[in-house]
Amino acid sequence: MPDPFRHYEGVPVLDLPADPPVPETPTLDVLRGVSGATSVADGPSFLSQLLFYSAAISASKRVESTGYRYALRVNPSSGNLHPTEFHFLTRGLRECPDGLYHYRPSAHMAEQRALGHIETRASHHEAPIVFVLTSIAWREAWKYGDRAYRYCLHDVGHAWQALALAARSIGCDSFAIGHFPDDEVAQSCRLHQDEWPMLVVELRGPSIPVRKPCAHETIWHTGHANRLSGEQVPYPAIDDIHNATKLSQQPWHILSPAEPPSTGSGEIKLPPPASSKRAFGDVVRNRRSALDFAGGTQSISLAQLSAILAATTHPFHADFASVRFIQLYLYVHRVHGLEPGVYRFWPERSELERIKHGDQRVAAAGLSLGQDLAGNACVAFSMIGDIERAVRAHGDRGYRYVHFEAGAIGHRLYLAAEAFGLGATGIGAFFDEEVHRYLNLAPEHGQVVYHFAIGYPVRDPRLDG
Ligand SMILES: Cc1cc2nc3c(=O)[nH]c(=O)nc-3n(C[C@H](O)[C@H](O)[C@H](O)COP(=O)(O)O)c2cc1C
Repeated sequence: MPDPFRHYEGVPVLDLPADPPVPETPTLDVLRGVSGATSVADGPSFLSQLLFYSAAISASKRVESTGYRYALRVNPSSGNLHPTEFHFLTRGLRECPDGLYHYRPSAHMAEQRALGHIETRASHHEAPIVFVLTSIAWREAWKYGDRAYRYCLHDVGHAWQALALAARSIGCDSFAIGHFPDDEVAQSCRLHQDEWPMLVVELRGPSIPVRKPCAHETIWHTGHANRLSGEQVPYPAIDDIHNATKLSQQPWHILSPAEPPSTGSGEIKLPPPASSKRAFGDVVRNRRSALDFAGGTQSISLAQLSAILAATTHPFHADFASVRFIQLYLYVHRVHGLEPGVYRFWPERSELERIKHGDQRVAAAGLSLGQDLAGNACVAFSMIGDIERAVRAHGDRGYRYVHFEAGAIGHRLYLAAEAFGLGATGIGAFFDEEVHRYLNLAPEHGQVVYHFAIGYPVRDPRLDG
């Protein structure tokens, strides 16, 4: 197993002050696009608050039989393997030298890799904070083989939303850029060869404490990235698909508009969403993936389901996300006021269309690689991605965007569920073709890209505290 933490040896660090203030805006409001505020007035405190509520360690688990203890973070990750790294550039942040930093979650500090101004080559606008989210595919591949590439993409989608929503909760806007020349961004950030840039996220807004940027020349610190494992097994299919989805030719920044998704309707109009006042800071620090769900008879209300689904529909701010590529299919097991069955969600009209009747518990678990949690949940999901439409608009790069969107929707589902005191789990392991057959999906309807489950979580004995 490769080291789950990247760090740069021999570089200065920027200490991020401990105990940043809790973002108090209700989670469901943040998910609806409401901006919060922050009381911090300097760059390091702002970064500390942003990262503490998006990427930091938030809990630990202990394996009873071995005593081995490991860390869990605010952002979820398949197998807790965390292939995503957070690098960021700052320009004109108060009390913070302009430069390129790498976030070190194990110590909640920022490693300063370079001082001065660095161009990302991904955007032409100057933002005071620009994140470059990267993937280390080897960190997933040693366990999941070729399928790991998809998990890396989902993971980036989760990390992006974790960052974008934390930013919004403290009063700033974000814009994600997926369309950039990969090798140029990797070079400008001097990334280690095992690390690939995946998404650039710019942050702007009046709450960011800024000063006048200085025009310093760039000074690189000589620190180097730690080696993650003694040996590395090659996964040529992952390299091939990554290379096929890379952009290198000019003009890389022109994104053609994608065709809009098809619209439809259903016989069930969702009721007004239930409300929850749970603060964003509280929800994100306590969010966990459920090991399993309680099963039994306890159900969620249709109004809660309505709120959870509504949380997925608010716009994403990204160059590739002006139209959606994902449609949600629900396996309803126990939702008060809704017959068990399979439903398709039509977001424009807030309607559900029933496409199968009857108990779906065995089917949902079976399709999710026999994982009981998808049957014991109150509701499980298949996210169906229209990869063909994405590829028609964006070429092979579209494959990444569909998976980023799935991860981002999953992240919103996690937070909305947690806001109601429910549990949730992202499910990357499922039988692709069987899902297509079960849902009667013709190729033009799309492909399954992610599964998800929400319900009443069982206690995880490994969780500390
Ligand atoms: C893309 C993705 C796929 C996942 N797939 C599964 C899965 O198939 N089965 C499962 O039990 N958990 C799955 N998880 C949950 C992770 O195991 C969980 O996020 C991780 O252990 C960290 O725990 P935390 O979410 O509580 O921080 C997945 C999570 C993500 C983000």
